[in-house]
Amino acid sequence: MEAPTILVTGGAGFIGSHTVVALAEAGYRPVVLDNFSNSQQDVLEGLRQILGYEVPCCVADCAHRSALFEAMEREQVRGVIHFAAFKAVGESVREPLRYYRNNLDALLTLVEVMLELGVHDLIFSSSCTVYGEPQQLPVTEASPILPAISPYGNTKQVGEEILRDVVRAGKPLRIISLRYFNPIGAHPSGLIGELPIGVPNNLVPYITQTAAGLRPELVIFGDDYATPDGTCIRDYIHVMDLAEAHVAALRSLERLSALASYYDVFNIGTGQGASVLDVVRAFEDACGLSLPYCIGPRRPGDVAAVYADATKAREQLGWTAHRTLHQALADAWRWEQRLQHLTGSRAKCQ
Ligand code: UFG
Repeated sequence: MEAPTILVTGGAGFIGSHTVVALAEAGYRPVVLDNFSNSQQDVLEGLRQILGYEVPCCVADCAHRSALFEAMEREQVRGVIHFAAFKAVGESVREPLRYYRNNLDALLTLVEVMLELGVHDLIFSSSCTVYGEPQQLPVTEASPILPAISPYGNTKQVGEEILRDVVRAGKPLRIISLRYFNPIGAHPSGLIGELPIGVPNNLVPYITQTAAGLRPELVIFGDDYATPDGTCIRDYIHVMDLAEAHVAALRSLERLSALASYYDVFNIGTGQGASVLDVVRAFEDACGLSLPYCIGPRRPGDVAAVYADATKAREQLGWTAHRTLHQALADAWRWEQRLQHLTGSRAKCQ
């Protein structure tokens, strides 16, 4: 039997590229669709080295209807994993229209084209940001959805609502929204990883860049939260565990193929909270380094603590995270060192 083709929109991005690996390893045929607005073509070379063949890639914007239609028809796509979206929280506050236009246009176009072509299975990238500042921890899928703090977060909430409504209307789609907690790490080969442009917003790339000497020190955003050590708590999940959750979700949709319409949401986290200081210490321990850091003011919009109850994913998708925080940080550091090596050799060539 031929391997089912899965379109991975945003497949050159951080989570997308790791999911391409997980899909290929699970016997699927991933096809990347990416406009490279926030990713680089080098990712495809990393994928080639990991998988031993060239992953098909369409350079197109997901909101470009005819390009998307043609790519999906040509590749005989059986299912879609939709990552393509802008994701910088702070930028979304400054440029809300650009975020709503980009993230919602891509999603609406994709769903319309799937319906036109009779493609039924879709996995949507959502986020634990939909829970805002939770009253109870860990958060389950039944925890209240709070008004989004940022336009980025709102595009995830609205995205989930659009998909739920389309399924409620009886459209022939089977959809799973995965609410990601904090993805970190890199493929253990060090051949693909996160590629932040400019100064990283997220904790782990900031830590690895500091360890590599690109930043003088990590600024910890506040140590006066109501948490055991005063720093914020998050659920950091290895990106390969997260990638594998997509495979588990696709398989679950395949098992549900007797249903014409289906929609559900799952938390994808480890179930363990770690504070910013825990992450710093785990990094030092995993990589045998000492990390310079200082305590700065709180960052607006940060919630004190959020971590997942991932029981539903375990019970219904048969998925659970099994990599440790130490592994994730060691893999992130391996990737950062490779990046430094590559940029160093590029600089020497110039
Ligand atoms: N942090 C620092 N210093 C830094 C960067 C981050 O102390 O230089 C702290 C933050 O204050 C926070 C923790 O590290 O307490 C994690 O911050 P990240 O920016 O890495 O992650 P967030 O939890 O803020 O955001 C992530 C994703 C978003 C998603 C959100 C959902 O980046 O896309 O989780 O909660 F919406």
